[in-house]
Amino acid sequence: MSDDTLTAAPATPTTTATPRCASCPHADRLAELTRSNDDLTQLNETLQRTQEQLVQSEKLASIGQLAAGVAHEINNPVGYVFSNFSSLERYLGDLFRMLALYESAEAQLAGSPHAARIAALRAEIELDYLKEDVPTLMAESREGIARVRKIVQDLKDFSHVDARKEWEWADLHKGLDSTLNIVNNEIKYKAEIVREYGTLPEVQCLASELNQVFMNLLVNAAHAIHKPRGTIHVRTGTAGENVWVEIEDDGSGISPDNLSRIFDPFFTTKPVGKGTGLGLSLSYGIVKKHHGRIDVDSEPGRGTRFRVTLPVHRDLPEQT
Ligand SMILES: Nc1ncnc2c1ncn2[C@@H]1O[C@H](COP(=O)(O)OP(=O)(O)OP(=O)(O)O)[C@@H](O)[C@H]1O
Ligand SMILES: [Mg+2]
Repeated sequence: MSDDTLTAAPATPTTTATPRCASCPHADRLAELTRSNDDLTQLNETLQRTQEQLVQSEKLASIGQLAAGVAHEINNPVGYVFSNFSSLERYLGDLFRMLALYESAEAQLAGSPHAARIAALRAEIELDYLKEDVPTLMAESREGIARVRKIVQDLKDFSHVDARKEWEWADLHKGLDSTLNIVNNEIKYKAEIVREYGTLPEVQCLASELNQVFMNLLVNAAHAIHKPRGTIHVRTGTAGENVWVEIEDDGSGISPDNLSRIFDPFFTTKPVGKGTGLGLSLSYGIVKKHHGRIDVDSEPGRGTRFRVTLPVHRDLPEQT
């Protein structure tokens, strides 16, 4: 191809081809204009992304306020139902023991009018069925209340109303290792964990909140693995004044449609009871509070990589 051929195909969709013509007196001017047009297109894209991020954080802030209110209202009643429930279970156990003793003494009442009344009532209330069903109902209710409690706790964490926060210098590898221990049960049958730790300085952070972020990412990675056994890579490293933590799985990946929604509160693709859809929005809020960022790279069918980047120094006071 000779030099003065008009090049047509742009390198990327955002880059316009520069028509070059040696004999054209305006070639330089045209090239300059094309460059500034490219710059403007890029700037426009950056602006759009920034605007989307702003909308995202606004949305999270208002939902956070709503969540804080709901969590506050529900927390108290759930608290006393939960603690009453334990007493109720104990009392029921005592009543069943008492009933068993009465039943063993029943033989001595044979032939008396009491015996007939007891037998009639036993049939009417279906005592045998009732004795079987009560423990099942109690167990199901306990699980239900425990789930409500977990959701309320998630909502409180999400909206940061439980303000027991201490900024400290922490070793993120320690946090990652302890989190991996906690979630080990959830992961060990599904995936092998491969740790590829770099050398990290201590980071000024809210260590327990960062652990929550790691936990969410690790559990999500495990949930995404549907083949008999997958691999989750946990990598760390530094980049200038920042440190980064990467969690990569070889699971289902995320479809492009879903990718733009995964940080939305309550967005979940998991069945009822398995996910509330708060994990990533909560993580987003925590990382943002550290003036860091979360990047995600995913390919359906291949897997997903989340990267959390955090500044080593807490440069500004906490944003509320
Ligand atoms: N590593 C991953 N691989 C595939 N999909 C993912 C991954 N991480 C997140 N997702 C998708 O993003 C959705 C939202 O994740 P998020 O952690 O916010 O909520 P969740 O895991 O569904 O529920 P929970 O509140 O219990 O964390 C998930 O339901 C899933 O569809
Ligand atoms: Mg999750």
